[in-house]
Amino acid sequence: MKICQTETYEAMSFQTARLIAETVAEKPDCVLGLATGTTPVGAYRLLSEWCREGKLSFARVRTVNLDEYLGLSEEDPHSYHFFMQEHLFRYIDARPENLHLPCGTAADPEAACRSYEDLIASLGGIDLQLLGIGRNGHIGFNEPGVSFDSGTHIADLTESTRAANARLFEHPSDPPSRAITMGIRTILSAKRILLAASGPEKAEALERAFTGPVTEQVPASVLQRHPDVVLIADREALSGLARRGFAGP
Ligand code: F6R
Repeated sequence: MKICQTETYEAMSFQTARLIAETVAEKPDCVLGLATGTTPVGAYRLLSEWCREGKLSFARVRTVNLDEYLGLSEEDPHSYHFFMQEHLFRYIDARPENLHLPCGTAADPEAACRSYEDLIASLGGIDLQLLGIGRNGHIGFNEPGVSFDSGTHIADLTESTRAANARLFEHPSDPPSRAITMGIRTILSAKRILLAASGPEKAEALERAFTGPVTEQVPASVLQRHPDVVLIADREALSGLARRGFAGP
């Protein structure tokens, strides 16, 4: 694993956007795996700016998002479809038919999971998968206890994850309790993984993921088994790893 330590969220966002932009420059028709949440918002803003300024083009890029809440339509402001439009897709020159997320309203969610796996395979696999990390070590909506052998599946969200996500909803009980998520096997099949993190509340999760045993109780710990992981995080998020002598300047 390569570690890139930054001082601030803004600098973490810049490094994250830069790695994504380099991937697109090297392979203009690359397949990007994307994430939602607070962590990538700054990077998405920069990518949008660079695209507007003509420094970068997503014209041939294909994207697949990690996850979507079950039961929320694309138009629902809390859906990840909506999030991606608001934070990235509406600002870039990608073709709408090349931008994919799991379908949260599929009549047959199990079939939707299978077709999402087929879709990723038909695109030739993911070149770069962007991830955030949950405080309990989740990646995507792969919560503690998930099987490392999971493909795209329906996940029951833990109370701690629902509580963490409640800030984006009007009422704490509003976040859906189930989601469609890429599985651990899906994520690990990406050629390269970029894990981004910011803030002291991520320090313990990163420490457990990279200095502890590889265990399904800490889903992100499986990243220790991937040959090409880049961790871009600010000093606060890396404080637990630094204590263990892991993080470089
Ligand atoms: C988002 C996702 C989640 C988040 C994680 C961190 O698509 O799959 O795993 O990456 O919950 O969220 P933030 O960035 O809001 O701290």
